[in-house]
Amino acid sequence: MKPTHIEHLGIAVKDLEASIKYYEEVLGLECYNIEEVKDQKVRTAFFKLGDTKIELLESTDPEGPIGKFVEKRGEGIHHVAFAVEDTQAALDDAAAKGVQLIDKTPRKGAEGLNIGFLHPKSTHGVLTEFCCKDK
Ligand code: CO
Repeated sequence: MKPTHIEHLGIAVKDLEASIKYYEEVLGLECYNIEEVKDQKVRTAFFKLGDTKIELLESTDPEGPIGKFVEKRGEGIHHVAFAVEDTQAALDDAAAKGVQLIDKTPRKGAEGLNIGFLHPKSTHGVLTEFCCKDK
């Protein structure tokens, strides 16, 4: 498995609209999609920079994963997502190398991608996501 690029950076924010304003007005990027992922208890906003996206994540529930993250650590980078050919194969490969998985099989993330997470305990502190379009 070799990722082709960073598909997105996931950034936890407290206020999605205020954060969008920052990325648009200060960085000059354009938000092209806002989407709620009920399953993850988040609202997401997306920006494109070349092949990479910024994914802002605002919690819709204090008990959700982003709610808990912001409560404990404040706003900031939450995860790094690598684009791979096949999420299942990438997860299997990491597991075979002794990495602890959060997801043994891919699930649907924002934008219909198939995503799976590695546990930050096994990745030197970075919550790591694999994602791909079709597998
Ligand atoms: Co993500």
